[in-house]
Amino acid sequence: GLQRVAAEQPSTSAHENMHKQPFVIGVAGGAASGKTTVCDMIIQQLHDQRVVLVNQDSFYHNLSEEELTRVHEYNFDHPDAFDTEQLLSSMDMLKHWKAVDIPNYDFKSYKNNVFPARRVNPSDVIILEGILIFHDPRVRDLMNMKIFVDTDADVRLARRIRRDTVEKGRDIGAVLDQYSKFVKPAFDDFILPTKKYADIIIPRGGDNHVAVDLIVQHIRTKLGQHDLCKIYPNLYVIQSTFQI
Ligand code: ADP
Ligand code: C5P
Repeated sequence: GLQRVAAEQPSTSAHENMHKQPFVIGVAGGAASGKTTVCDMIIQQLHDQRVVLVNQDSFYHNLSEEELTRVHEYNFDHPDAFDTEQLLSSMDMLKHWKAVDIPNYDFKSYKNNVFPARRVNPSDVIILEGILIFHDPRVRDLMNMKIFVDTDADVRLARRIRRDTVEKGRDIGAVLDQYSKFVKPAFDDFILPTKKYADIIIPRGGDNHVAVDLIVQHIRTKLGQHDLCKIYPNLYVIQSTFQI
C-alpha cells in the first residue's frame, strides 16, 4: 500500500502547489519604532531560509513639480501617500513565484525612480514592513502573521530627530514642524487604529529579544511542513492518502 502510493509521481502542477504560498509577515508601527531593526533581527535568525524584505517606503508616490516646491506641506504619513496598487501587484508576482522589480525610494530627492530598481526574487518568507502596512484590508489579507512594534512616542520622536538630521540631512526645525503637523496626528488617526489587527504586539522593538525569538520559532514551525515536502517530494501523496 504505502510503497505503491508513494511511488506514484505527482503531476508537476500539483507538486508546485504543494509549496505554493510564501509565508508573509507584516510588520507595522510608528515611524522610528524599530520596525526595520526587528525585521533585521528576524532575517538574521532565519539565515538558513530564503527571506526577502519589502518596505512600504518603496511605494511612496512620486511628487509632482508643484508638490516638490511645497514639500513641507506634503503629508508623508497619510495612507494616500503610498501607491498601494503597485504594492499589491508586486506581491501578486512574488506570491506566484515570479521575480519583481521594486522601486528604490530616495528620501532626499523624494523620488521613487532611483536607478536601478531592486530586483526581488520570490522567497519562502516575505516580510512586508511599513507604518501603514495594516491600513489596506487587501494588503492585510496577504499576511500569515501580523506584528505591531509598539514604542513610546517620545522614544520615536528622539530617534526620528537624530535620524532625520544626521542621516537625511534635514533641519531640526523642519523635523519638529513635520512631527506636530503630520506625523503625530497621522499616528493617532491611521497607524494606532491598525494595532488591533496585530497577532503580536512587541513592546520596546529591537530590545525585545524574547519576542523576536518566539516569532522566529513560530515561523520555523510553519516552514517545517514545507521543508519536509522538499526533502520527500512524494510525501504529499502519502499525506493526502493517509490524512497525516
Ligand atoms: P523604523 O523602521 O520603525 O523606522 P528603525 O528600526 O529604522 O525604525 O529605527 C529607527 C532609528 O532608531 C534608527 O536610527 C535605529 O538605529 C534606532 N534604533 C532602533 N532600535 C533601537 C534601539 N533598540 N535602541 C537604540 N536605537 C534604536
Ligand atoms: O522608516 P519609517 O517607518 O520611519 O518611515 C516612515 C516615515 O518617513 C514617515 O513618518 C514619513 O513622515 C517619513 N518620510 C519623510 N520624507 C519622505 C518620505 C517619508 O520624512 N520623503
